Amino acid sequence: MTGVTKTHGSGRNAVTALDDVSAELPRGSFTAVMGPSGSGKSTFLHCASGLQRPDRGTVEIGDRDLGGLSETALTELRRERIGFVFQGFNLLPALTAEQNITLPVRLAGRRLRLDKQWLEQLVDSTGLSERRRHRPGELSGGQQQRVAIARALITRPEVVFADEPTGALDTTTGRAVLELLRRLVHETGQTVLMVTHDPVAASYADAVLLLVDGRIIEVLHSPTAEAVAGRMTRLEG
Ligand SMILES: Nc1ncnc2c1ncn2[C@@H]1O[C@H](COP(=O)(O)OP(=O)(O)OP(=O)(O)O)[C@@H](O)[C@H]1O
Ligand SMILES: [Mg+2]
Repeated sequence: MTGVTKTHGSGRNAVTALDDVSAELPRGSFTAVMGPSGSGKSTFLHCASGLQRPDRGTVEIGDRDLGGLSETALTELRRERIGFVFQGFNLLPALTAEQNITLPVRLAGRRLRLDKQWLEQLVDSTGLSERRRHRPGELSGGQQQRVAIARALITRPEVVFADEPTGALDTTTGRAVLELLRRLVHETGQTVLMVTHDPVAASYADAVLLLVDGRIIEVLHSPTAEAVAGRMTRLEG
């Protein structure tokens, strides 16, 4: 991402959510994004993943410049090469947990095949075996979040963007999700970018980007939970 600026709204209501942000995430790295509410974290993920187009600047994934892609090409890239866990889950209410998880594969038609073994592994490691035939309305917030995580991973995407993926989870389930993400990075070389407010979650990452008012003000490498918590306290103080 180079020199990315993104403004939401217009006129007097215009908000500069990202202000000339540049960042490079190496393939096979796990990066956390932290910062106060409204600092631009979700916008950062949306621009980095091609969900939103920046006003200025360029975004590249691998050797593809997202700015040069048509809407169709961008949609295909997002569906097949990118996994996204939304802050609000965005599950389809009429589909069961399992149908939600496998949706990206079905949307891709003949371009992708469902890897049943991987599905079983994902359902198992997110602890959803007993809930696979339930619809979102019949699931707890944490269970819906886990469905959203499994859905983001079903296509084995090159890059996983996760907006507070452990926000609704208890400590044990949250840790299982973080370990799953870290395994993806270290065993299969996938790249993960995760927003979190939790210093313990951030400590699973290789680096933490600190966003304030739409700018990256600091990068913490090999973060410990204590170091991150200390930094966040000073930021708020
Ligand atoms: N669609 C929109 N229209 C207008 N303003 C927006 C829109 N989306 C975001 N904003 C504004 O842009 C800024 C950054 O929002 P963003 O959602 O990226 O913050 P965030 O860091 O993810 O916050 P949180 O921790 O609360 O999720 C905020 O001030 C927000 O009010
Ligand atoms: Mg957000």
